[in-house]
Amino acid sequence: MKLLQIDSSARTSSVTRRLTSRFAEEWRKNHPDGEVVRRDLSATALPLITDDWSATQLEDSKLTPAQRSYLSTSDALIEELAAADTVVIGAPMYNFSIPSSLKAWIDHVVRIGKTVGYGPNGPQGLLTRKKVVVITSRGGAYEKGTAREAFDFQEPYLRHILGFIGLTDVTFIHVENQAREEAAAFLQTLLNVSAESWLIKTSK
Ligand SMILES: Cc1cc2nc3c(=O)[nH]c(=O)nc-3n(C[C@H](O)[C@H](O)[C@H](O)COP(=O)(O)O)c2cc1C
Repeated sequence: MKLLQIDSSARTSSVTRRLTSRFAEEWRKNHPDGEVVRRDLSATALPLITDDWSATQLEDSKLTPAQRSYLSTSDALIEELAAADTVVIGAPMYNFSIPSSLKAWIDHVVRIGKTVGYGPNGPQGLLTRKKVVVITSRGGAYEKGTAREAFDFQEPYLRHILGFIGLTDVTFIHVENQAREEAAAFLQTLLNVSAESWLIKTSK
């Protein structure tokens, strides 16, 4: 069994990093023979998509060595994702959406022919049978049913793009109101209970 732990916060002492680490720690306990693979998107910046991305439309056998080399980052990230049984993603809210480092990762793993197939019924996600847990942290609060829900461009986007590549079993854990004083106490409460219980109801 493999857990892929993806972090995208720019801060080392970040809320999402603490929670993804806590999740991984518990996953390790439950899967003593399992492997945790870490992908820190802030520590190692991914290259942005360039004009060379058009090489993704060519058959593998037709790629030049330069095109092959350009696509090697995407290949490696897709392989890493495909090998995971569970994926935990730490996603702070930046400007109502996700950090650009996480968007760069998405740009590399959403790839026609590798993670998305096109058939008679249109696009079909090719990554299946994985559990994804997304832990977000926000300065404010965007709870469903409130006026601010409309400003949450994080969960709807991530749900859509993960579903596009076949990842439909996705649970969101929102840790909100981080700009408020009481946020530290709530974070501590989360760290004190089992990560499994977060999956029930943690939005605050
Ligand atoms: C560049 C930047 C943009 C942010 N934009 C928002 C925002 O639009 N809405 C919000 O509620 N919080 C916003 N925040 C606050 C973060 O979401 C909050 O501090 C969160 O805890 C960061 O996650 P982390 O602790 O894992 O780094 C922003 C923070 C930064 C650094």
